[in-house]
Amino acid sequence: MNVLSIEGLHKRFGSQTVLDSLDLQVARGEIVGLLGPNGCGKSTTLNIVCGLLEADAGQVRIGGEPVSLRTAARVGLCPQASALYRDLLPAENLDFFARLYGLAAIQRRRRVDELMQRFELTAHAGTRAGRLSGGWQQRLNLAVALVHGPQLLVLDEPTAAVDVQARLALWGLIEELRDGGMTIVLTTHQIQEAERLCSRVALMRSGRVAAMGSVPELLARVPAQAVAVVQTKDEAATTRRARALGWAVRPHANQLLCLLPQASSLREVVQALDGGEVSSVSLQPVTLEHAYMELLGQPLEG
Ligand SMILES: Nc1ncnc2c1ncn2[C@@H]1O[C@H](COP(=O)(O)OP(=O)(O)OP(=O)(O)O)[C@@H](O)[C@H]1O
Ligand SMILES: [Mg+2]
Repeated sequence: MNVLSIEGLHKRFGSQTVLDSLDLQVARGEIVGLLGPNGCGKSTTLNIVCGLLEADAGQVRIGGEPVSLRTAARVGLCPQASALYRDLLPAENLDFFARLYGLAAIQRRRRVDELMQRFELTAHAGTRAGRLSGGWQQRLNLAVALVHGPQLLVLDEPTAAVDVQARLALWGLIEELRDGGMTIVLTTHQIQEAERLCSRVALMRSGRVAAMGSVPELLARVPAQAVAVVQTKDEAATTRRARALGWAVRPHANQLLCLLPQASSLREVVQALDGGEVSSVSLQPVTLEHAYMELLGQPLEG
């Protein structure tokens, strides 16, 4: 049975339709990533799953049961804006949220100790949450989301605004949780995060899932064997030339991305373009970023 099942979800804010018949199924032990432009409805979806927002129509089931107070206790949320109490110590934050979920004192103490150890928060036990670095705040956020022993973990941009080292550490922790059998739904704007962590990715646009699959499945939907990144002094001329060769051309950040229908060597690509206006060419494998651009019809932000 799916841990999370969403069917035909609709949500409006005033006259704005934010979710428009969104479907999503998440099986036990999966990490599913929601990717899509700002405002496409990722956080709204997660907030409905956690019972923080009510949908206008559609079904959301957690472990087969419609969302309710009871299912909320089975979900752990790491919100996009931190819910930590800045003036409380890490263990005090954990204890506070454990109380909210109604854990008894003995259970609470055990759980707080366990999470302090497991997330290595003991090293910062004397630092108030507001004074922790971004990476350590996110670690504490993750620990808080787990305090009541949820079956489904919901992470809204878990590594936004943390440095590379902290991001790698958080990815490691998320992978450990997955290896321990946790089911996870996360949102991200980072392609590498989705490629590394997600068993399946949902590409969202305008409040619905436009494409869904494992990373290799999404890559297979890009009509290219490789991508040539071309810098040129004359975009129009190079575009004409590439199109005449049967290549699809996508302008992207002062460059042209040429989707090559056949595997080609760099030399073959340079020779085929054959224009004095081309100043550099590099070859890339097809990545999730290209799939995002092709399937959502717009470049990745950030
Ligand atoms: N409480 C609210 N009241 C009115 N409009 C809202 C509310 N919450 C979200 N919205 C609007 O709904 C749309 C979807 O917002 P949502 O936060 O779900 O997007 P998102 O995909 O998470 O974006 P981001 O990548 O920026 O986090 C946006 O246009 C947003 O302004
Ligand atoms: Mg969001």
